[in-house]
Formats: sequence, C-alpha cells, structure tokens
Amino acid sequence: MSFIAAYLYDKVMAETEAACLQAWRQSLLSDVTGKVLEIGSGTGANLPFYNLKNVKLTLCEPDAIMRKQLLEKVKGYEQKSIQVSTDGAEAIQAKDHEFDCVVSTLVCCSVNNLEQSLNEIKRVLKPGGRFMFLEHVAAKKGTSRRTWQNIINPIWKVLAGNCHLNRNTLQAIEDAGFKIESITNESMRKAMPLVRPTIRGVAIKMDDA
Ligand SMILES: C[S@@+](CC[C@H](N)C(=O)[O-])C[C@H]1O[C@@H](n2cnc3c(N)ncnc32)[C@H](O)[C@@H]1O
Repeated sequence: MSFIAAYLYDKVMAETEAACLQAWRQSLLSDVTGKVLEIGSGTGANLPFYNLKNVKLTLCEPDAIMRKQLLEKVKGYEQKSIQVSTDGAEAIQAKDHEFDCVVSTLVCCSVNNLEQSLNEIKRVLKPGGRFMFLEHVAAKKGTSRRTWQNIINPIWKVLAGNCHLNRNTLQAIEDAGFKIESITNESMRKAMPLVRPTIRGVAIKMDDA
C-alpha cells in the first residue's frame, strides 16, 4: 500500500465504518473464541469487537505503515492476549492446526495470491475451525457494475495497494475446500460504487483428507 493510502486509510473509511462496517464487524467477531489469527489487520479496525477475555489473538500485517498504526492501537488493549506479526497471508509462520479461527476483513481483495492464502488459512486452522470473512467482491456477471469493475481494475490495483475490484472470493473459498456455514450479501453503504458488493460469513475447515 502506498505511504499516503496507508496514512489516510482510517479517514477515508470513516463514513463507511459508521454506515455499516462497524456493525458487520461486531456481528462477525463478538462470539469468536480461542486462538484467533487475523490476516491483513491493517490499522486494527477489528480490535474493538473481539472479546479479549475469551480470545488469544495474533494480528498479521505486512505493510510497515499500517502495522505502525496497528501497534499504536494495540497499546490501548490487554496486550498479554495480543501478538503482532509481519506475516503475509501466503506464508503464515504458524504450525498446522494451530488456530480455532482465522479472520479476514477486506483483505482477500489485496493478497498477491488468493488461492495460496486460502490454503495457508486452511493449513493453520484446526479441523472444524472457522474462517470468518468480510470481503468486497466482484458484482454479478452481466451487470454494468461488473463491466466497470473490469475496466477500472488495472488502474485501481496500482492506486489502491493491490486491491482487486473483481475477485470472486466466495468461489475461491469454496474451491479451497471450505464448507460455507453462513453467507450474507450486502451493499457496503457510503463506499465507492465499485467496491459496494460484499460478502460476509463463516466457512468451516473440513477434516483433512
Ligand atoms: C483494505 S485493508 C483492510 C485492513 C483491515 N483488515 C480492515 O478491515 O480494515 C487491506 C489490508 O491487507 C493487507 N495486505 C495486503 N496484502 C496482503 C497479504 N499478501 N497478506 C496479508 N495482508 C495483506 C494490507 O497491508 C492492508 O492492511
């Protein structure tokens, strides 16, 4: 992510956070328990929504400027239950089956290799473990929004820290072998029209074959 985008991230997102994201984060994360890994934690927007009495949290953020802001926010919490790492989602420094839950919010759009990232998430989850996701995704095929996503994507990727407008993230999660336990499609209010289509829900890691 560019220096400027990383520093402006919280300001740019403030209206969307108030309009819908904070409520979605709350409903996704409030009952998460156990050992939890969050990929691409950014500036720590999810931190207020974990119940840290029941969670041992590892936050991964590869971008140095985002991580600096994250570390500042972590200081306001019970730090014994929070670790911060520099890992990217494609190579997580953790043992197989180490986590009860992995969280990704607005990250699958930006990883370099989505398939590899989902395989890593699967590897570090316990059998039966939960992958909690909230992602902006490709609009429905054949819509004008999807056409514009495809047209703008090459420039957008460069300007917005490798964020892709047109990823079919739900299909990728299913292709990685997860079972979708719950899914909600909703428009991200007060966001730029091309990033409005979102999915959020829970995918279960099935037993290793
Ligand atoms: C749009 S921000 C979302 C931040 C935060 N998760 C949130 O919900 O506000 C995308 C984040 O993904 C991170 N990111 C980019 N590539 C990544 C990768 N390969 N692995 C993990 N995180 C990555 C970026 O550094 C950035 O912090």
